[in-house]
Amino acid sequence: MSNLLQNQVISFIAKNEEAILKKWIDRVIPSPEDPNKDKMLGNGKSMLRLIMLCLKDSNNEAELISLAYKVAEERLDAKVNIGDFVYNVSLGRSEIFNSLPKIGLTIEELDPFINKINFYFDHFLHLAVRRYTELKDKRIEEQSYFIEQTHKDRLTILGQMSSSFVHEFRNPLTSVMGFIKLLREKYGSLDYLEIIESELDQLKFRISQFLLTSKKEIKEKEKESIQFLSLVEGTLDFIYPLLVSTDVHIHTDIDGNPSFYGYADEFRQVMINIIINSLDALIESNQTQKQITITSRLEKNSLLVSITNNGPMIPAESLHSIFEPFFTTKKLGTGIGLYICRKIIEEHQGTLVCESNPELTSFQIVIPVNSKETKRE
Ligand SMILES: Nc1ncnc2c1ncn2[C@@H]1O[C@H](COP(=O)(O)OP(=O)(O)OP(=O)(O)O)[C@@H](O)[C@H]1O
Ligand SMILES: [Mg+2]
Repeated sequence: MSNLLQNQVISFIAKNEEAILKKWIDRVIPSPEDPNKDKMLGNGKSMLRLIMLCLKDSNNEAELISLAYKVAEERLDAKVNIGDFVYNVSLGRSEIFNSLPKIGLTIEELDPFINKINFYFDHFLHLAVRRYTELKDKRIEEQSYFIEQTHKDRLTILGQMSSSFVHEFRNPLTSVMGFIKLLREKYGSLDYLEIIESELDQLKFRISQFLLTSKKEIKEKEKESIQFLSLVEGTLDFIYPLLVSTDVHIHTDIDGNPSFYGYADEFRQVMINIIINSLDALIESNQTQKQITITSRLEKNSLLVSITNNGPMIPAESLHSIFEPFFTTKKLGTGIGLYICRKIIEEHQGTLVCESNPELTSFQIVIPVNSKETKRE
């Protein structure tokens, strides 16, 4: 690269700086609410100055990095799409190339300058996009951390609430249940006693629901062998009072008499939560033959259980949120039912997923049958 040619190109760019910048700014894709719009011209100017320095062979890497980082931050603040950003920078490059033929040099003479400018722009874009991506990832991480933290805070409050709730309610409840037993012993079968007992059972169930969200209350205990068929029968007996006032039919199809290791009370709670959710969904629906189907089969070393209803579809955008704590679409829902279910199934080293289409909504549980291991946090 001769000095003469070098000076010719540099002084041409210096002389035409304004015209190049104007044409470039006129062509850029504007971002509607860009708070850094007016900085664009200044950045373009800095870039042209750096290019001229680079054509003079002066080492200005540090300045290029600092410009690339500054621009990346501004573009991120302006919430600009990274594709638009790259396109806009490339427009600047093409405006320089469009103007260079006016110097009157041959292609061969211009070629080394074009290569240098190209390399410089590519290097700038690489630095800026890399920085932009780093900053964006960091922001997303910070946001997710914040959301997670808020969830955790709410869970802690819920844990504390449930602990005091449990203490306030559990003792009188146990004593009332004890007195009912005494009444039964003393007077045999009395009118309404069964109803009172079943209602108290429901209350106890609700309390244990909260109890499970409070880690302090979870006692370490051994897994026991559960006969799945009798667990389902027990569950259906338990929800019978809820069923009678509805026109929902429950159909079961249990293959063989499978058993697995687990916590019977907790697993029963999973079944109850999912069935009650299905009932809620069916009661709201206009379906003429409202049906819940519970099926199970053994496959290799796992028990596959599915609880399916023909109620309304869960919209795709809600499907990934239903297992989140506090997600509810019900007036009086707390949104912790499915959260607890998944937690319990994971304690059984299993999985719980939901699939929903316009005809059917299905909750599928898979648990290993011979695992005695527990996964507690
Ligand atoms: N079978 C189902 N059909 C349709 N929607 C469902 C079904 N099961 C759950 N959902 C949706 O998932 C949400 C979350 O369910 P989840 O059991 O966690 O909370 P909830 O039932 O609203 O309140 P609760 O804490 O009393 O159980 C429900 O509000 C409902 O929108
Ligand atoms: Mg529920």
